[in-house]
Amino acid sequence: MNVLVINGPNLNLTGERNPSQYGSDNYETLCAYIKETAKQIGFSECEVFQSNHEGDIIDELHAARNEFSGVILNAGAYTHYSYAIRDAIEAIKIPVIEVHLSNVHAREDFRRVSVIAPACKGSIAGFGKISYKAALTALFDTLVDNLG
Ligand code: DQA
Repeated sequence: MNVLVINGPNLNLTGERNPSQYGSDNYETLCAYIKETAKQIGFSECEVFQSNHEGDIIDELHAARNEFSGVILNAGAYTHYSYAIRDAIEAIKIPVIEVHLSNVHAREDFRRVSVIAPACKGSIAGFGKISYKAALTALFDTLVDNLG
């Protein structure tokens, strides 16, 4: 079982940007945590992709459908308004789990809306980097159940 983790716009500035919401670990440290955690959970491969561009994220989702067992997606601000990313998630058959570092429900009103959530298997928010651990665990167990 392998997993693709997609991080959207501005997540490359994690550690510098608003650390009270997104934590003080820099992006490289976050990626190392994600890869190590995926290995510990039992994934044979974990690729992490980051882009600040909507179309690149859509292309990556399309490509993932033939290459990965599932996707963990932090779509950043696209979460709140990208119907194109939502359609891409709907178009691929593999499970996609929505993830956020911050508790989007405890912030500005616009962050309470996720247009991608209905197309995702589930959503996890508010635990900092542990949100990724929770999402990876949920994806792994979901895949095991489907196989079993
Ligand atoms: C975020 C939450 C979004 O509202 C925001 O635009 C981000 C990061 C998070 O991980 O908490 O860029 O997805």
